[in-house]
Amino acid sequence: MSVDNGNRTNFASKIGLVLATAGSAVGLGNIWRFPVLAGQNGGGAFLLIYIICIILLGLPLMIAEFMIGRHAQSNTATAYARLTANPLFRNIGKLCVFTGWFILCYYIVVSAWALNYMVSALAGTFTTLAMTGNTQAYADYFSGFVSHPFMPVVYTLLFILMSHLVIVKGVKKGIERFSKYMMPLLFIIMLVLCISSFFTPAAGEGLSFLFQPDFSKIHVDTVLCALGQAFYSLSLAMGCICTFASYFNRETRLVSTAVKVGVIDSMVAVMSGIVIFPAVFSAHFSVDAGPSLVFIALPNVFQQVFSAIPAGAYIVSVLFYFLLVLATLTSVVSLHEVPTSYLTERFHLSRPRATTYVTLSVMLIGSLCALSMGPLSHLTICDKNLFDLFDFTSGQVLLPVGGLLISVFVGWALDRDIIREQLTNYGTIPAQTMAIIVFLLKYIIPVIILLIFLSGLHII
Ligand code: PFF
Repeated sequence: MSVDNGNRTNFASKIGLVLATAGSAVGLGNIWRFPVLAGQNGGGAFLLIYIICIILLGLPLMIAEFMIGRHAQSNTATAYARLTANPLFRNIGKLCVFTGWFILCYYIVVSAWALNYMVSALAGTFTTLAMTGNTQAYADYFSGFVSHPFMPVVYTLLFILMSHLVIVKGVKKGIERFSKYMMPLLFIIMLVLCISSFFTPAAGEGLSFLFQPDFSKIHVDTVLCALGQAFYSLSLAMGCICTFASYFNRETRLVSTAVKVGVIDSMVAVMSGIVIFPAVFSAHFSVDAGPSLVFIALPNVFQQVFSAIPAGAYIVSVLFYFLLVLATLTSVVSLHEVPTSYLTERFHLSRPRATTYVTLSVMLIGSLCALSMGPLSHLTICDKNLFDLFDFTSGQVLLPVGGLLISVFVGWALDRDIIREQLTNYGTIPAQTMAIIVFLLKYIIPVIILLIFLSGLHII
């Protein structure tokens, strides 16, 4: 439950706050995007670099966004503008709001796939596919759906409408209450799936792909991908974390909250890998199949593993896709909230009107992305269809640039008293980690991001 504290609502309980933030962070990034990238970038090697990126860059940046959001008590764009007169830094918030909106435009497409899979699981489609005895049937089902002339658009519009309804009603209460029950449930389901994954025929092969780093697979693109994924997964540089922190109360411990969210988020990503790779190897699919990986391999593994129990495969499929839709919905709602709260506060629009503007723009661009594997597949820029272009631009350009600016701003320009006040909870607790956080934000993070970014773009 949430309580009202002056103008802004606060999270009521510590666990609710951690789970709500984790609920926004845990989404398709963990369950869908992480295994796709790990599959394309050498498995274990990618996982190792990803974890390093989370600890060294992700957590300090999350803490930086927490500090800015709680101090400014406003939407992200206004938060930065309130803290500095420097024109470059003042606009970081606007860049983050844009990035959030940009990501939402294609995130909604994958959300729509998840929704379709939930409906198909309910309708027993996967049981029918299993009866063909042909694993290729799952691949055909997926490509049939994503390349359909209008069904992806229908589901995309449905999903954004669901998010619209939640947002119009006000999200804080909803998100906190919802995440408190759903996150543990998602976790339990993932755990059951992980355990069952050990019994798939190629469990050993799949797990060693995920956990044994092959360093020959590491090159600069791997590192850039891992960096973008760390930001994406922790919802950094998109205005979301900063907006959430504006609802934190004065007692919220920023460092320990960031660590808890980081641990939960990374655990879900690793668990997703544990579920997916053994399944992929068992079904003889290619690990670098790209965005289709989760949607082809998973329904197949459910049928293989749970068919011994009567209706087992059916129940697990329905449950899993239902939870995937819910986890995705919390993320979509948080993403939707970022531009909505900006429009509401900046242009003094009513909440329903601001929400409608965001919804309509996402409907338009999202529909184009939804068709980019079907009727619009010929529309390519730099050899990428619209969907891939949005994924690439957000993960490998907008997020690193946003992260770089945030770390430079907090490390070099933000008043030290604000940092101390935030890390000590207004002087009530010691700030043992302040020196190391500032050091990382000031020297290490900007240099690492810049090096990776420039070499990724083949500039150095
Ligand atoms: N972190 C989410 C994921 O991994 O799926 C994506 C996301 C959700 C980003 C919400 C930003 C956000 F506001």
